[in-house]
Amino acid sequence: MPRKFPWTLGTLAAALLVACSSPPPSTPPVAAPTAATQAAAQAYDYDLNVFHSVVAQHGMVVSEQALASQVGADILKAGGNAVDAAVAVGFALAVTIPYSGNTGGGGFMMVHNAKTGEDVALDFREMAPAHATRNMYLDDKGNVVDGKSLFTHFAVGVPGTVAGLTHALQRWGTMPLAKVMAPAIHYAENGYTVSTTLANVLEHTKKPMGQWESTRAIFWKNGAPLKQGDRLVQKDLAASLKLIARDGPDAFYRGPIAEKIAAEMARHGGLITKADLANYKVVERQPIRGTYRGYEVVTMPPPSSGGIHLVQILNMMAHWPLADWGHNSAQSVHHVAEAMKLAYADRSLYLGDTDFVKVPVKGLTSKAYAAELVKKIHDNTTLPASAVHPGNPMPYESDQTTHFSVMDRDGSMVAVTYTLNTNFGSGIVAAGTGILLNNEMDDFSAKPGVPNAYGLIGGDANAVQANKRPLSSMTPTFVLKDGKPWLVTGSPGGARIITTVLQIVSNAIDYGMDPAEATTELRFHQQWTPDELRVEQGFPVDTIRLLKERGENVVVKASMGRTQTIQVRDGKLLGFSDPRNPDGAAIGF
Ligand code: GLY
Repeated sequence: MPRKFPWTLGTLAAALLVACSSPPPSTPPVAAPTAATQAAAQAYDYDLNVFHSVVAQHGMVVSEQALASQVGADILKAGGNAVDAAVAVGFALAVTIPYSGNTGGGGFMMVHNAKTGEDVALDFREMAPAHATRNMYLDDKGNVVDGKSLFTHFAVGVPGTVAGLTHALQRWGTMPLAKVMAPAIHYAENGYTVSTTLANVLEHTKKPMGQWESTRAIFWKNGAPLKQGDRLVQKDLAASLKLIARDGPDAFYRGPIAEKIAAEMARHGGLITKADLANYKVVERQPIRGTYRGYEVVTMPPPSSGGIHLVQILNMMAHWPLADWGHNSAQSVHHVAEAMKLAYADRSLYLGDTDFVKVPVKGLTSKAYAAELVKKIHDNTTLPASAVHPGNPMPYESDQTTHFSVMDRDGSMVAVTYTLNTNFGSGIVAAGTGILLNNEMDDFSAKPGVPNAYGLIGGDANAVQANKRPLSSMTPTFVLKDGKPWLVTGSPGGARIITTVLQIVSNAIDYGMDPAEATTELRFHQQWTPDELRVEQGFPVDTIRLLKERGENVVVKASMGRTQTIQVRDGKLLGFSDPRNPDGAAIGF
């Protein structure tokens, strides 16, 4: 097992025993260890890892913001189920991690009911407004207008979060909406202290956010973004949340909040109307299911690409003895990265909103297709991207999203990944609501087949169309063992979400790691285009050299993903919040 202290008390005791005795030079005595020494050695050899999961018995909540994790844990303690807690956390994160938690964005929720064994994938992804058109981000010469799909009122998709959270509570929760929303309202009204992470994100997004008076009024002070230690109070958001708590989703989609969002759009020539808001719909979908080395993987279907490609890559990985090859060895990384490359090439061509385009889900997730694909992967050479699929690279997604996981005393699980897209989304607060609006329209291909606003390229299946949902990579995921809950995980990270979740699943199954170990291991990522094998800082130089010898174009970059994971082990819940965001916490009881 990796990351164990090399010196246990047992080995130290044995070394001391040898050092302290004075044997005659010719007959070195090797005293048999006493029973007590053996017991000490055994006790200290017991899985002492550098990183530690939080252990709990009755319930666990893991999110990127400690205040929100506490909110969820309190709901569980008060007798709420995993859905009650998840809805409370979803609203709390909208206040306490405002760059990705949201009411003005959208996302996905996976629900596993331990009593019935049923799994549901709830889709509350944003929808394109009814007046959206395929060429809406192009100028009259047919060129993509820089930034239009990111930082203007045209960037905003019809938000789904309020519909999604309230739908989940009404369908599977047990507590009143006002009760689960109360903590979010409290933090919006009374404020909380800005962390270093939040201050950094505010500083880095000051250009788009600074354009709007309604945004500066909340997130700026004395002409500059709030700093670490300042207090963030969101009175307008508190008022909006109170309306939702009292009147339900109608307050957002048909009532006073809808009026204000539509007015904001009308003032700036944006597309969303009151009719778009009234027409928003959540969809309960069948999850994607796969198997990996005897475990069952249950994950998000389209309009996310995440679940399909998670299963597709695992199907390829099942052909290789990864545990024997070693964790993050050059041999393992090379093979898995090649599998990632093949999957992302398929993503660019086939994936889109299944309500609008046909996606070959069965084929992409079949074992037979994976068996064909692995024939293309070789031990000592790397497939150039052009040989995998000439031409058409894929759309890029930015990485500011957030994930949280919940497990309750019955073993029911909820995994939610939701987002505004980039940090603080469009940066636009709809005046008078305190609600930040997403820029999810940028997840469409601005111009299929031609570089988009990021200078990257997208596929036809993901072209803009009225009422369509943009393609996502968000991958909230469960793993079941013998049909029972075993692991729940997910991550932010844009295009890197799929491979980040993949590595948590593989680290747990192939290498027996617990959530803390699986999370803190260094990650790698390959997405076909750009044709580079991205590794996190700290990857061993020797491994990088061996990968380069195979032809891999290795690029060392900053950290990838921020996973929030819970695993069942020996009847206990082990939770771990990724330290790549220091604001997070796993809280159990
Ligand atoms: N906006 C990131 C995603 O949906 O994957």
